[in-house]
Amino acid sequence: MMDAVVLSLGGSILVRDPDSSDFIRKMSKMLIEISSKHKVYVVTGGGRIARFYINNGRALGADERALDIMGIETTRLNARLLITALGAHASPEPPRTYDEAAVAGMEHRIVVMGGVSPGITTDAVSAYLAERIGAKRLVNATSVDGAYTADPKKDSSAKKIPRMTHEALIKLVGTDPLGAGPNVVFDPAGSQVIAKNKIQLAIVDGTDIGNLKNALCGSDFSGTLVE
Ligand code: UTP
Repeated sequence: MMDAVVLSLGGSILVRDPDSSDFIRKMSKMLIEISSKHKVYVVTGGGRIARFYINNGRALGADERALDIMGIETTRLNARLLITALGAHASPEPPRTYDEAAVAGMEHRIVVMGGVSPGITTDAVSAYLAERIGAKRLVNATSVDGAYTADPKKDSSAKKIPRMTHEALIKLVGTDPLGAGPNVVFDPAGSQVIAKNKIQLAIVDGTDIGNLKNALCGSDFSGTLVE
C-alpha cells in the first residue's frame, strides 16, 4: 500500500491575491506529481475569506458556533477551488467527515477537504485525519518558515527551531485553544493528537512549492521537523 501524507494548507497560502490561479495551478501540479508515489490528503484553511465572514458575522451578533460554521463553509469553498485545479486526480466533493475522507482515499489519489466540526481549526482537522487514515507524516504549509522561539514579527531575537520533540511543541503552543495567536504555528489540539499518535510534523513556508514537495515526500527540507 502507498504511504499516506496529510497536508494542512493554510488559507493564507491558498488565498493570497485576488488572482491566485497561477499559484494554485503550480501547487496542483506538484501534488499530482507526488500522488504517483504517495496518497495525498489535503485540508484547506479559510484564510482571509473566513476572516471576512467571522468578523462581519460577529459584528452582526452571530454566536461562536454560527461563526465556526461560516468558517467551515469557507474552508470547504477553498477546497473546491483546489479540487478544480486538480481535476480528475482528486475526489470531486470535499468529504464532510473523516470516514468519508478515508473512503474517498480508496478511490482517488488525492482527497481535499475543509473543516469538519465547530470549535477547532483545520490544523486540528489535519491531525485527526492523519490519525484516522494512519498517516505517519503531516505537513503544515503556513505563512512562516517554521517554529520560532518567540514571535519573529515582535521579537528580533527569535530563533527558528529546526528540530523539536512533540513535547516541546506542546510546550511552545500551549494547551488553551483560545490562546491561539501569531506564535501558534500549529493548533494546540492538533499538537496533542500528533503527539499521541507519534505522527511526524513538518512546518514549512507554503509559498515555496519545491521545499513543500520535499517535506511531503519525506526528504530533507527547510523549516521545522517535529518528531
Ligand atoms: P482555519 O483553520 O482556516 O483557521 O479555519 P485559521 O486560524 O483562520 O487558519 P488559516 O488562516 O486558514 O491558516 C477558519 C475558521 O473556520 C472554523 C473556525 O472558526 C476557524 O477559525 N472551523 C474550521 C471550525 O469551526 N471547524 C473546523 O473543523 C475548521
